[in-house]
Amino acid sequence: MLVRKSLLLSGLLALVTSSYAHFQLQFPEPRGPFVEDDEPNFCDGYTNAVDNRTTFPLGQGFITMNSEHPNWSVQVLISVEQNPTNFSVFNTSTSGQTLPLAVQPFQASGEGLACFAIDIQNLDIQGVQDGSNVTIQVEYNGGDGNLFQCADLTLSSSATIPSNVSCTNLVSNSTTSSANGTSTSTSASSTSTESSAALPLLRKTGGLLGLLAAAALSLL
Ligand SMILES: *[C@@H]1O[C@H](CO)[C@@H](O)[C@H](O)[C@H]1NC(C)=O
Ligand SMILES: *[C@@H]1O[C@H](CO)[C@@H](O)[C@H](O)[C@H]1NC(C)=O
Ligand SMILES: *[C@@H]1O[C@H](CO)[C@@H](O)[C@H](O)[C@H]1NC(C)=O
Ligand SMILES: *[C@@H]1O[C@H](CO)[C@@H](O)[C@H](O)[C@H]1NC(C)=O
Ligand SMILES: *[C@@H]1O[C@H](CO)[C@@H](O)[C@H](O)[C@H]1NC(C)=O
Ligand SMILES: *[C@@H]1O[C@H](CO)[C@@H](O)[C@H](O)[C@H]1NC(C)=O
Ligand SMILES: *[C@@H]1O[C@H](CO)[C@@H](O)[C@H](O)[C@H]1NC(C)=O
Ligand SMILES: *[C@@H]1O[C@H](CO)[C@@H](O)[C@H](O)[C@H]1NC(C)=O
Repeated sequence: MLVRKSLLLSGLLALVTSSYAHFQLQFPEPRGPFVEDDEPNFCDGYTNAVDNRTTFPLGQGFITMNSEHPNWSVQVLISVEQNPTNFSVFNTSTSGQTLPLAVQPFQASGEGLACFAIDIQNLDIQGVQDGSNVTIQVEYNGGDGNLFQCADLTLSSSATIPSNVSCTNLVSNSTTSSANGTSTSTSASSTSTESSAALPLLRKTGGLLGLLAAAALSLL
């Protein structure tokens, strides 16, 4: 009886500790290698900014990630500090400036690679220009709490995203109007350039059919 109870308990514990549906930021590169257990924490447990920042477009760019959960939501925070070490400076800068979200919250479906647009110039943050250092923090929720990964950037008006990084499975392309805080979205068209044609299919079919398709795919 006792043994059974403790077996049950350890089973439940295992379920609890492994229950997060994780995501991995792919581009821009996160502060450090993905640490599964730290993902519920600020910047996946990486407190300090790195010095080898990714040069990233000041204007239109995109972020790529891998989702381990079929239904999820994302928003992206931004800090303008050289070394943002806590959530508060992703909300208000040390100079007292209120910061907008870098990417408005959106929901998406589909496990695997996903891509979404970001346009930092369009946020009209005072002082953010060609050559500015900023940090973005991707906040992902697969249904069981928020998970975080950060990337430290140097913005460049002439930078383009490296040609070996592709926007596979575009799930959101929204631009924020800083004037009135509303966001406009263009619907995500299918722009898959790689072998993930199954992802848009999963998104469209959804539900049981999607789950069956996912199960079938996992057998391949
Ligand atoms: C941006 O960060 C890099 C690396 O940390 C640093 O060398 C550089 O001086 C910073 N640039 C600005 C404009 O603060
Ligand atoms: C920064 O340097 C680390 C350690 O050498 C490396 O693993 C990482 O890929 C580099 N990041 C970028 C964005 O270049
Ligand atoms: C948050 O981080 C900023 C910049 O790293 C620092 O100036 C500030 O004191 C920190 N605030 C708290 C509450 O730790
Ligand atoms: C900043 O914090 C305020 C108060 O909690 C909140 O209403 C607002 O949404 C936050 N903004 C960002 C960009 O997180
Ligand atoms: C988002 O939409 C804009 C305007 O239509 C377009 O120029 C840009 O390439 C799109 N971004 C991505 C990542 O597809
Ligand atoms: C793209 O190429 C760079 C070197 O040119 C490399 O460091 C990086 O890992 C590559 N990225 C991908 C997604 O293959
Ligand atoms: C907010 O700004 C957008 C883009 O400039 C505009 O289309 C929209 O009508 C504005 N909404 C309000 C409520 O002013
Ligand atoms: C995902 O969302 C769809 C509809 O939004 C729902 O039918 C489906 O049950 C959800 N799947 C999971 C695993 O939560």
